[in-house]
Amino acid sequence: MDDKITLYLCMGSACHQLGVYRVLPILQRLMTEHGIDTEVELKGAFCLDNCMHGIVVKIGEDTVTDITPENVEIKFTREILPFLKNEHQG
Ligand code: FES
Repeated sequence: MDDKITLYLCMGSACHQLGVYRVLPILQRLMTEHGIDTEVELKGAFCLDNCMHGIVVKIGEDTVTDITPENVEIKFTREILPFLKNEHQG
């Protein structure tokens, strides 16, 4: 299947301040560990209009907010991964 799912990670200034540059490599590692790095493309995005709840990722119409470098592993497993699976079946 060459329809890759796009996972947008907010690189806007508010999310940058909250440490998105630390979240990015962790997300990349998690995608590799879960074997989805060939199906999912991680892209930087401009402000995703959720600065009050940064750091933010968007998958299709779904948004995951309040990500931090500390909780990104849990958020990935509990929130991001299920959305990615939904999109894939979608
Ligand atoms: S800067 Fe990330 S949601 Fe606005």
